Amino acid sequence: MLQVAVTGASGRMAGVFIEFIAGIEDVRGYAVTASSPADPAASTAMAERLAGLDLVWQQHQFDVIVDFSFPEATLAYAVWAAARKVPMVIGTTGFTLAQLDQLADTLQSVPVLLSPNMSLMMNLAWRMTANATTVLPKEMVDVEIVEKHHRDKRNAPSSTALKLAQIVAEKRGWSLAEALRHNARWGMIGSRPEKEIAIASVRGGSLISEHSIIFAGSGESLEITHRSQSLSPFARGSLRAARWIVKQNPGVYDMLDLLGLAEVLY
Ligand SMILES: NC(=O)c1ccc[n+]([C@@H]2O[C@H](COP(=O)([O-])OP(=O)(O)OC[C@H]3O[C@@H](n4cnc5c(N)ncnc54)[C@H](OP(=O)(O)O)[C@@H]3O)[C@@H](O)[C@H]2O)c1
Repeated sequence: MLQVAVTGASGRMAGVFIEFIAGIEDVRGYAVTASSPADPAASTAMAERLAGLDLVWQQHQFDVIVDFSFPEATLAYAVWAAARKVPMVIGTTGFTLAQLDQLADTLQSVPVLLSPNMSLMMNLAWRMTANATTVLPKEMVDVEIVEKHHRDKRNAPSSTALKLAQIVAEKRGWSLAEALRHNARWGMIGSRPEKEIAIASVRGGSLISEHSIIFAGSGESLEITHRSQSLSPFARGSLRAARWIVKQNPGVYDMLDLLGLAEVLY
């Protein structure tokens, strides 16, 4: 039996995950909620959520935390998990680089799987992107990324799009900070510089999640697109991640490690 505590439980993604695991015989899910009602905007709210996590822990001594919440909240849950050596699967996105360092520091004594995208197919798209970037010459092939999400998504660009850009930058030997351009073309901009990776973020309605990376060459182009029609691929991937991470040694892993795609091909 795998016992899972779910943080961010009142949110969209955690809600879908809780519903998904409710139908699986050898898994028990526990939604972590504030121990007493608190105004979500008040400074006491995080303390109430942590007290809620304590309560679930006292009742169930769960094996793993699956977190789809908010960066500051994830950091607080990580401190809690490190103190009790409880593995974590973190799907929350929107961390700053400093927060990612802090997270890795806090969780160095427990196994943690951190991925901005838990879908099997999106992870394959990252791998395909790495391979395409290795083969296609940077002097001839421009890279553009388009991501689309629902109107309530808090961060832009999406962390999944940023990971696509990061893969291209690494393979081309560019600094991501120098090469990245985000939604900033307007007016007489002239020719596109060679050293540029552009991301356009579209927000609207109930769009779930779509990412395209376009390799635009001379007389031909290649496009890799991943589309989610529902949140269930992320729920499926998260359960797979939870089953896997509880068997790992302490360290920071991502879905590419789980899938055995971290080192294959190029
Ligand atoms: N990795 C993946 O595959 C994947 C897939 C989908 C979504 N995500 C990410 O998962 C996260 C949650 O997405 P979502 O669509 O479920 O968001 P959401 O509906 O806004 O839910 C976020 C939840 O986080 C909790 N929270 C804690 N502190 C918060 C704060 N200061 N402000 C706001 N919320 C706070 C709240 O739950 P409680 O009050 O119950 O604590 C809230 O309901 C996002 O970062 C999203 O990008 C990742």
